[in-house]
Amino acid sequence: MKQNIDVLQEIALAWQSAKAVAVFTGAGMSTESGLPDFRSRQGLWKQRPESLATLAALHNTPDEFYFFYQWRIRQLWQVEPNAGHQALASLERSGHLQHIVTQNVDGLHQRAGSQQVSELHGSLKTVSCLDCRASYDSRQLLPRQEGWEAAYQAGTYRYGAEYSCPSCKGKLRPDVVLFGEHLPESPWRQSVQMARSAELFVVVGSSLLVSPANQLPQSALAQGAKLVIINQEPTPLDAQATWKLDNKAAETLAAVAALIS
Ligand code: APR
Ligand code: ZN
Repeated sequence: MKQNIDVLQEIALAWQSAKAVAVFTGAGMSTESGLPDFRSRQGLWKQRPESLATLAALHNTPDEFYFFYQWRIRQLWQVEPNAGHQALASLERSGHLQHIVTQNVDGLHQRAGSQQVSELHGSLKTVSCLDCRASYDSRQLLPRQEGWEAAYQAGTYRYGAEYSCPSCKGKLRPDVVLFGEHLPESPWRQSVQMARSAELFVVVGSSLLVSPANQLPQSALAQGAKLVIINQEPTPLDAQATWKLDNKAAETLAAVAALIS
């Protein structure tokens, strides 16, 4: 553990004396579970244009769109929560964490046992029909035939019958918020409320570049909350953070949780 133990002690002390603690997570929370993030060197958006995560891409370039989400869905069902997810779930059980707001769509916080989780960008665990709105386990969208990934690499991949709704034959879409879409109303409202009442606001694994999610740490700061940022790269709020740790999320959260009685 590179960062010095005193800083971790300070954070643990502030954490356990805070009346309300909120944690805000991004893709960097799940990279140690094996899921890629978006904007670091090996991030998804470094490999594919952000324009893929749009409804326009679903209609105009369905092969690209469906492969991208099929690839992410398959990964999602193969990974496990990491020590960071576990640490946050145990802090919630011991009453030291009131709410997690996540930009992630992987459901790993809930699988680690966290109950109070607001998913700002939806979930990749389900897909739904554009026509009749029926919702299905996202594995419904995975191609039936073997070797679809190799086919994509070989340039012969074509999306198939898996994309059509079993009940009305409409097009299925992942239940994630695509660029240009509104955030789900109640998770957003809950998160704004939680940012306004937190005494300690902890950002984990987010570049804080995507709005409106990145307004939440700012509204926590505006009402006097202390800000902790655990992120391996710089963020626009580093200068306003009481503590900025650039170490790995999972080991840092596990170390802080171990210091909180
Ligand atoms: N520990 C700490 N930080 C990490 C780790 C780790 N193990 N792994 C990655 N990071 C950092 C990266 O350095 C990066 O700064 O996490 C940050 C992740 O930032 P992004 O990739 O931009 O992810 P995020 O902030 O969640 O993106 C927000 O953008 O594309 C949309 O909808 C998508 O929800 C996503 C949103
Ligand atoms: Zn349908």
